[in-house]
Amino acid sequence: STQPKAIVVIFGATGDLAKRKLFPSLYKLYKANKLSDDFAVVGVARGDMSNDDFRQSVIRSTDKIVKGRKDINDFASHFYFQAADVTDKESFDKLQTLLHKLDGEYQTEGNRMFYLAMAPEFFGTICENLKSSGLTSTEGWSRVVIEKPFGHDYVSAKELNDQIGRVFTEDQVYRIDHYLGKEMVQNITVIRFANAIFEELWNNQYISNIQITSSETLGVEDRGRYYESSGALLDMVQNHMLQMVALLAMEPPINLTRDEIQSEKVKVLRALRPFTEEEVDDYFVRGQYGNGYIEDRDVIGYREESNVDPNSTTDTFVAAKLMIDNYRWAGVPIYIRTGKRMKEKSTKIVIQFKDLPMNLYRDKNHPHPNLLVIHIQPDEGMTLHLNAQQRTGKEDSLPIQLHYCSNCDDKMNTPEAYERLLYDCLLGDATHYTHWDEVSISWKFVDTISKAWNKNKEVHFPNYESGSMGPAASDELLARDGFFWWSVANRPSNS
Ligand code: BG6
Repeated sequence: STQPKAIVVIFGATGDLAKRKLFPSLYKLYKANKLSDDFAVVGVARGDMSNDDFRQSVIRSTDKIVKGRKDINDFASHFYFQAADVTDKESFDKLQTLLHKLDGEYQTEGNRMFYLAMAPEFFGTICENLKSSGLTSTEGWSRVVIEKPFGHDYVSAKELNDQIGRVFTEDQVYRIDHYLGKEMVQNITVIRFANAIFEELWNNQYISNIQITSSETLGVEDRGRYYESSGALLDMVQNHMLQMVALLAMEPPINLTRDEIQSEKVKVLRALRPFTEEEVDDYFVRGQYGNGYIEDRDVIGYREESNVDPNSTTDTFVAAKLMIDNYRWAGVPIYIRTGKRMKEKSTKIVIQFKDLPMNLYRDKNHPHPNLLVIHIQPDEGMTLHLNAQQRTGKEDSLPIQLHYCSNCDDKMNTPEAYERLLYDCLLGDATHYTHWDEVSISWKFVDTISKAWNKNKEVHFPNYESGSMGPAASDELLARDGFFWWSVANRPSNS
C-alpha cells in the first residue's frame, strides 16, 4: 500500500532535528495523504511531558507551513509522549506497553519505525535495549533509522555497526544521508541514465573535470562542541560530498533497485585513489574561517565561537582533488569543496567538458567550454552552457545557457529531503539510504586525511575570511591543473 500503517518512535523527540525536520515532514506527508489514519508517533525523551504539551510542540513546529492548517489538531492527535532514560531498561518496558496499546487503537499491525535522533553515543545502547525488551520482535516489520554521525572514523563506525547488527539485519537499517533525499541529487541518475546526450559523453574522453561545491553561510552556531570533534571533513565530506561523487561517477546499474545501485556506488568508491599521509597536502586543502562580513553583518571567527578552543585547528572548510582510478575516469580530477561562513548558501555540481580538438570559433582569451551545471540548492534545476551565434553584429560565437528549474516556480513546492526519506523508510525502500559498505569505504578513505592532519597541527588558521569562497590554496589546487572554480549563478536566470 502507498499509505503505510505504522508506529513511528522518535528517540530525541524534544531535540532540534525532531522539531525542525521530522515533525514538519510528517505533517507534509499527512497533508499529501501519504499516511493512513492508522499511524501513530511516539516521542521519546528524558523528562516528563504530557501528551498535550507534546502535541503543542508538534503543532508549533509546523508553524512555518502556513497553508490550511485546519487539520493540524487531528494530525497532532496521533502523537504520544513517552518519558524515558534510554540507558534504563525499564523505560523500554513502558514503551513496549504503550506500543501494544497503540497497535490496538490504530491497527498499525505491529509495524515499527525507530528513528534515532539523539547523540550518537546512545545509538548502540538504544538498539540493544530495543531488542532485550522485545520491541523488535513484532508481528509486523521493524526498521531503524540512524542519524549521522555514523561514527567518527572507520573503527568507531564499525563498532557502532556491529552493535546495531546484533539487533537488526542490514535490510532493517536505514542510515540517513539527507543529501540523498534532495530532489536534484536523486536526479543525478535520471540526468545520466535517461539522456543519450549525456551518458555517452560521461567519461574521460569528453569530460575534463568535475567540480562539486557545497557552501554555507552559517557558522557553527551552537554546535561548537560537536564540531570541534568533527570539522568539515568528517561533517560533510565523508558523507554528503562522497555520496554525490559516487552517484556522478558510478557505472550504470543493471536496474534501479537498491542492491544494484548501491553495489555500483561501492565499486566507484573503492576506485577512489588512496593517498599516503605525505601526499595529502597535494590533494587536500583545509581552511578555517576568520571574522568577516556576511549577509549585511559582521561575524566572528571560528576560534571566537562558543565551545571552541581559541587555538582550535578544526577545519571548517575543505577542498580536495579526488581521482577515480578506473577505466572511465582515469585522468579526470573531481574537485570538491565545502565550508562554513562562505559567500553563499548553495550546492552545485559543474561538469566541464573538454574543448573540441579543433574549434573554429575558439576565442583563446575567453574559452567557453560546455558546462553542465546541476543546481542542488537553493534552486533545483540544471543549466547547460553552450555556444551559439547571437545577433550582436560580431562573428564570434557566444556562450548561451539553457535552463531548467524545478522549484523556481513556488507553486511546485517540491518535497523536502526528510519528507521523502521518511516516506521511503515507511514503504521499506532503502535505495536513498547508505549501505554499510559505502559508509565503511568512505571512512577508510577519509581516515588517512584526518590522520595526516592530526599529526601535522602546523596550520595557519584562520586562513579565510568569513564571506569569501575559502582560502587561496583552494584556488591554487585547481590552478596547478590549469583549471579554476567556475562561479556560476545560483538561480538559473533567463537573461
Ligand atoms: C549536516 C551537517 O549533515 O549538513 C551540517 O552536519 C550542515 O553541519 C548540513 O550544515 C548541511 O545541510 P544542507 O541540507 O543545509 O545543505
